[in-house]
Amino acid sequence: MGTQSRVVENVPKGIYVAGEWRDASGGGGFWVEDPGTSKRLCQVADGQAEDAASALDAAVDAQTEWAATPPRERGEILRRAWQLMTDRVDDLAMLMTLEMGKSLAESRTEVTYAAEFLRWFSEEAVRIEGRYAEAPAGGSRLLTMKQPVGPCLLITPWNFPLAMGTRKIGPAVAAGCTMVVKPAQLTPLSMLQLAELLAEAGLPPGVLNVVPSSSAGKTVGPLMSDRRLRKVSFTGSTPVGKSLMEQAAQNLLRVSMELGGNAPFLVFGDADLDAAVDGAVIAKMRNNGESCVAANRFHVAEDVAEEFAAKLAEQLGAMKVGHGAEEGTQVGPLIDGDQRDKVTELVDDAVGKGATVATGGSAAAGDGYFFTPTVLTEVPESARILSEEVFGPVAPVTTFGSEEQALALANGTEFGLVAYVYTQDLRRALRVAEGLQTGMVGLNTGMVSNAAAPFGGVKASGFGREGGVEGIAEYLSTKYVAVSMG
Ligand code: SIN
Repeated sequence: MGTQSRVVENVPKGIYVAGEWRDASGGGGFWVEDPGTSKRLCQVADGQAEDAASALDAAVDAQTEWAATPPRERGEILRRAWQLMTDRVDDLAMLMTLEMGKSLAESRTEVTYAAEFLRWFSEEAVRIEGRYAEAPAGGSRLLTMKQPVGPCLLITPWNFPLAMGTRKIGPAVAAGCTMVVKPAQLTPLSMLQLAELLAEAGLPPGVLNVVPSSSAGKTVGPLMSDRRLRKVSFTGSTPVGKSLMEQAAQNLLRVSMELGGNAPFLVFGDADLDAAVDGAVIAKMRNNGESCVAANRFHVAEDVAEEFAAKLAEQLGAMKVGHGAEEGTQVGPLIDGDQRDKVTELVDDAVGKGATVATGGSAAAGDGYFFTPTVLTEVPESARILSEEVFGPVAPVTTFGSEEQALALANGTEFGLVAYVYTQDLRRALRVAEGLQTGMVGLNTGMVSNAAAPFGGVKASGFGREGGVEGIAEYLSTKYVAVSMG
């Protein structure tokens, strides 16, 4: 059996509840497709409301004992899981490439990134601290302690099938929370494989439960209104995030939302242009452009814009498009036909309004959902591509005259996840970083993602931070104890 069939064959395909794999109630399944061939890979149990309820039952049953487990023990489970992921990077990467499309090289990088969240939070588990203070008026003491928020619902997206899971699961495990995970319908296999790996690392039954499903409404809906649930963490689109917020309000859940982006990439006239182009390739092309932190629009100082666009077009035009598992592929397929159609529509809209195609410009041939890496110049302000999240390998380039104009363009969006800035002037760099309405800034770098850093946005990009020392706080409540000394 080849590696591709073996990894698909070996992945568990059921609902994972209380440490056991089971069929969905009703026995149904849904198909997972390879976006690089548009062919079916395998069927996965199609979770229903009853399965979601059993998963939450298991999480609730496990909560008290799990919260009382020594932090070091919780940390060591995460550390063992990091080791197992690291040892199995090749198989995990192949599985991810098959269900999501990105190249094997990118999948390996994601497995490593995902594993890093487990290692980072294995170290944070033993640093959960409270404080002790004398009341200002004397006579009593103020004691605070941090406690797990309780059972969590973690909803993960298809674009980073492992990393978006581990950056929720890692801190939840470290904090002593139990959880139900609802992986994306398009890419459930990596999460199911991770559940098995975490059990092997020693995670007790019931702490992590996974409910794959073709219907978020049937599974997530009832969970959100169950009073035993205490928190929801979601990564995905802003409209879905808003609807979850409304549901969360009914149950007053703790909420973390990592939502859409529309990242500006600013290149000032004093920038190292070659470095800016290299950074632009990473910020745009990582994950085939299917990332919330993908550079969505390039605003370049008038005097260097032509050279920047030509160099970017040369690099993107030379990238090899193909099935993610093929040797040498740099750009895999988009996730499905809808996504390819949406990217095509945005490019056609821009070109129809006067943009020039410097390279690419259309879907690429093949059985999968391929789109040619594209650079557009002279993109008019009215083009939808400047205000909508592209989620594809398309780089629209526009120009600016002054620093004030660059900032106004960058901030002229409802989103506020990340912005990228290239300049060699330190004062300007800090001025612009301070002025940007985003949760993150890449300064002379096209990559901000790091397990040790607080990832998250402002405005319509959501709130809450994942990763870093901030990440575990999302899973902890502060209890204050007033201590009489009388
Ligand atoms: C995302 O696309 O949601 C996150 C990407 C990352 O963590 O780098």
